[in-house]
Amino acid sequence: MDRLVVTGGTPLSGSVPIAGAKNSALKLMAAALLAPGRSVIHNVPRIQDCVTMVEVLEHLGAAPAWTDGTLMIDATDVTPRETPYELVSRMRASILVLGPLLARFGHARVAMPGGCNIGSRQIDLHVRGLEKMGAQFHSEHGFFEATAQGLRGAVITLDFPSVGATENALMAAVAARGTTVIENAAREPELVDLASFLTGMGASIEGVGTPTIEIEGVDAFEPVEHTVIPDRVEVGTFAIAACATGGSVVLQGARADHMDLVFSKLADAGADVGITEDGVAVSLRSRPNEVDLVTLPYPGFPTDLQPQMMAFLAGADGTSIVTENVFESRFMFVDELNRMGADIRTEGHHAVIRGVERLSAAPVRALDIRAGAAMVIAALAADGVTEIEDMYHVDRGYQDFEAKLSLLGAAARRERELSVAFS
Ligand code: EPZ
Repeated sequence: MDRLVVTGGTPLSGSVPIAGAKNSALKLMAAALLAPGRSVIHNVPRIQDCVTMVEVLEHLGAAPAWTDGTLMIDATDVTPRETPYELVSRMRASILVLGPLLARFGHARVAMPGGCNIGSRQIDLHVRGLEKMGAQFHSEHGFFEATAQGLRGAVITLDFPSVGATENALMAAVAARGTTVIENAAREPELVDLASFLTGMGASIEGVGTPTIEIEGVDAFEPVEHTVIPDRVEVGTFAIAACATGGSVVLQGARADHMDLVFSKLADAGADVGITEDGVAVSLRSRPNEVDLVTLPYPGFPTDLQPQMMAFLAGADGTSIVTENVFESRFMFVDELNRMGADIRTEGHHAVIRGVERLSAAPVRALDIRAGAAMVIAALAADGVTEIEDMYHVDRGYQDFEAKLSLLGAAARRERELSVAFS
């Protein structure tokens, strides 16, 4: 496995380019399955999850070709072959081929996703939405077998504004006969990006970005060319890292309109946040104030920045309360932070963070993408040299992570351990 070795204490400064949004690109790649022909997606991040999704598409017969940040997907010869557990267990977003395959072929066979480090990650809301449009699901041997003799429009009311369930329903509804209404829909910017991609293919969608989306089914789709929106979670991660180190950075290409609550919470902590001609500037030269925050579906505070904020608030001048409402166990990394001298107690969905003067370096590990990013932020702010194991988690969601940190003046280097197999 490989580790990141970080020497803390250097305030980050400079400009860093922001990559395309992982949580949009993966869905656009799935949506490309709807249209025979060559779709072109620009600004696709070179991260492990996108490599995995390319494997899923290849497995289904699409011919993806990647040059720099542009992915060309020829979905002419796609067939609804089984999406294997090996790919789904590596990346849960693989289940988002369900909607497009049911829409185009009336059939899909996808391995059931396992849980992961932040919760059980059900897909009951995905299944129920697709069943409302006439799909039939049969589960056996760890697979979902889904069939539909022609999807038909329906009213789908989601118990929870699930991002994935909204996306799967949307990618099926665009081809369903008649009108579909998705109530209590997710409103994330990535959904808006997906709807823009689908509209470019010929879909008819109203209301995306609000809790009620209305879709008129159409019979055929054309391939499309599209550029992925910038990754708001990467923007937030580097903004928080700058604040945690008493630094000042410019996030090139950041969409401030996707980050209202994140920037407002950083301002509450004492940061200066300003729009520049090429992005957003964030700085904090003093010790942060304590800040309370509650994660909620968009436009609430994003759960994907909760671990990074916890690492930041561990050094605040006061006590902060963080409530995690989206996932049932997204505090697993707190024990790792406490090994670095943080004083955090969790009780169910709540965490009480008593700020300490300075964290101290200790060997720690990354537990998932965002927890790993949080450990890097803690290490950048800590006194001493921290080694973070299992950085493959972070590589799933961040392109050129340590290269970008080095660009901002951080002392961070990757060490790869050659795993020697003893026969
Ligand atoms: C997306 O996951 C993101 N992943 C997650 O980012 C993000 O944390 C999440 O949305 C919330 O914003 C991608 O877009 C690839 P949900 P998703 O369905 O779609 C429960 C990252 O680090 N639920 O909105 O899986 C679920 O268990 C990742 O980039 C059901 O109970 O999120 C969770 O508690 C982590 N049944 C909650 O809803 C369902 O059928 C939110 O899940 C679906 C979800």
